Amino acid sequence: MSTRKAVITGVGGYVPKDVLSNHDIEKMVDTSDEWIVTRTGIKERRILRGKDQGTSVMGTEAAKEVLRKTDTDPAEVELIICATTTPDMIFPATANLIADKIGAINSFGYDLQAACSGFLYALTTATQFIEAGKYQKVLVVGADKMSSIINYEDRATCIIFGDGAGAVMLEATEEPYGVIDSILRSDGSGAQHLHLKAGGSRRPATIETVMAKEHFVYQEGGAVFKYAVKHMANVAATIMERNQLSSENVAWLVPHQANKRIIDATANRMGLDQERVMYTIHKYGNTTSATIPLNLWEYESQLKQGDNLVLAAFGGGFTWGATYLKWGYNGS
Ligand code: UT7
Repeated sequence: MSTRKAVITGVGGYVPKDVLSNHDIEKMVDTSDEWIVTRTGIKERRILRGKDQGTSVMGTEAAKEVLRKTDTDPAEVELIICATTTPDMIFPATANLIADKIGAINSFGYDLQAACSGFLYALTTATQFIEAGKYQKVLVVGADKMSSIINYEDRATCIIFGDGAGAVMLEATEEPYGVIDSILRSDGSGAQHLHLKAGGSRRPATIETVMAKEHFVYQEGGAVFKYAVKHMANVAATIMERNQLSSENVAWLVPHQANKRIIDATANRMGLDQERVMYTIHKYGNTTSATIPLNLWEYESQLKQGDNLVLAAFGGGFTWGATYLKWGYNGS
């Protein structure tokens, strides 16, 4: 059996400089810093402002950083997969725009939409390209400008989301590090609880859809919360069991950051204390496809070669999943 694996060799990240704090939101809707922190764990989030600034702006910065850190010539990148729910345009793909901006002249690229599980879907897909033997270097980007689809008059959604991007370089290796296992799931019946009503082919944009605010995220928070807690904890526990992982030998849980209570429930189920859980939710909120690579970006310096990482996510679709990987290098 081939020992060829796909390993992360570097991480890049980008968050816009503009901060939207809970106190700022208190001036926009009927809410309080205390409610938001207690119910979600979020203190502030970043917002990408400026004319014609789309998701690719952030994805490009994250990609440039990972190219620099891994000393990679952009012409060597063979494939770019961009997980996003907020592409710059319906077409062309944001991955193509990023490829152009970073000078990845020999790559092909496409976008992948699985809402908050997008990065795990993209990482798993990229792993298949590498394990199949034809590809050596794949850039996986998770990027979302959630502020472009949020109604800042809706206190149930505007408190949660933020903008950001993360990127990882995935390379072929014969070493015993890299992606080992992955479980991906979806259930389209969950669409009723979390979706964007208009702007797609079913309800193209009209004056009526704009007036009815149908181009903003619709979320039944309580229903989504129940599914998220159940599925994210279950899938993380399943991937541990089938890889004979115990709470002692998992170094880090790398969870999607939607609500600190969902993260804590997953960690509890895995038997992990908070010191082994990556949290960025307090400062970035829920950046959808970007939360997991932004976690890796923030915690990179604490990671050691051989660390067992369990990545887990749940999001719109519904989609959910977990990935088990062995980290490939020592943080600085
Ligand atoms: O990442 C993609 C998937 N998304 C998720 O995983 C999100 C999952 N859901 C959640 O994180 C939580 O459901 C929310 C943070 C969205 C909401 O928290 P909750 O504890 O589930 O609140 P709720 O929706 O059950 O509302 C409880 C109360 C309601 O008031 P009443 O009816 O009890 O009087 C709401 O109107 O809290 C009220 N409320 C707020 N109060 C102050 C809802 N939003 C706010 C707010 N500030 N921002």
